[in-house]
Amino acid sequence: MRIIRAKDYEEMSRRAADIIAAQVLLKPDCVLGLATGSSPVGTYQELVRRNAAGDLDFSRVKSVNLDEYVGLDPSHDQSYAYFMRHNLFDHINIDPKNTNVPSGIAPDPEAECSRYDALIAAYGGIDLQLLGLGPNGHIGFNEPADVFPTGTHQVTLTDSTIQANKRFFARVEDVPRYARTMGIRDIMQARRVLMVVSGEGKAETVRAAFTGPVTPRVPASILQLHPDFTLVADEAALRYI
Ligand code: GLP
Repeated sequence: MRIIRAKDYEEMSRRAADIIAAQVLLKPDCVLGLATGSSPVGTYQELVRRNAAGDLDFSRVKSVNLDEYVGLDPSHDQSYAYFMRHNLFDHINIDPKNTNVPSGIAPDPEAECSRYDALIAAYGGIDLQLLGLGPNGHIGFNEPADVFPTGTHQVTLTDSTIQANKRFFARVEDVPRYARTMGIRDIMQARRVLMVVSGEGKAETVRAAFTGPVTPRVPASILQLHPDFTLVADEAALRYI
C-alpha cells in the first residue's frame, strides 16, 4: 500500500482528486466506484472545479456507488443517491444514465444485490474505487463481522454506525437500520483503490486497519492485501502511522 501524507483536509482532497483525474485522463470511459460521507466531499468539490475549468471530462465516465440506506427513496435528502447528485453529479458533465447507486427501495433485497453485482460485471469491473473509512473500520457498509462478506448484500447497521450517522438525521430513530452495500469482493476486485481519511478521530482506526492484522473485525484491514491501494490522509489521521 502507498500512503500519501497531506497537511490537512484541503490538501488530502486535492491529492485524491489528482489521482481520480489521472484515472479519467488515462481512460476517459473508465468505471469509477464512488463513496459518500464527509471525507470525499472536498475531493468532489475539487473534481467539480476541474470539470468547470474544462480540465476534466466526465462525459464517458460510468460510476457505481458503494451503498445505500434501505427504505430511503432517492429523493430523500439523506439518501446516498441524493448525496451524490447534490455533491457531484449535478455539477459535472457525467451522463446521469451512467451513474448508479444501489436501490434502497427495490422490494427484493437479494434481487437488487444480484442486479448490482451483475451491473458491475457488465461494466467490466471497477477501474478505481474511492472509499472513506467508518469509525469502526467499515468500508462501504461492510461492518465488523466474523467473515468478510463477498458480493453486494443487505446489512444490519451496527449501533456505532447508527450513532456516527445520526448527526445527519433529525432523530436517531430516523436513521435507517439496514443498508445495501457492495461487498469486500467487489471492492477488492477494483483495479485500484483510493481511500481518503481525515482527522484525529480516525487515527486509531487507521492504526488498527493498516498496522494491525488483516481481520473481518476491522473490514478495511483487507486493503493491506490489495495490489494497488493508496491511502490519502491528513497528518491528524496518520498520527500513529
Ligand atoms: C458511512 C458510509 C461510508 C463512509 C463512512 C464514514 O457510514 N457508508 O462509506 O466511509 O460513513 O463517513 P465520514 O467520511 O463522514 O466519516
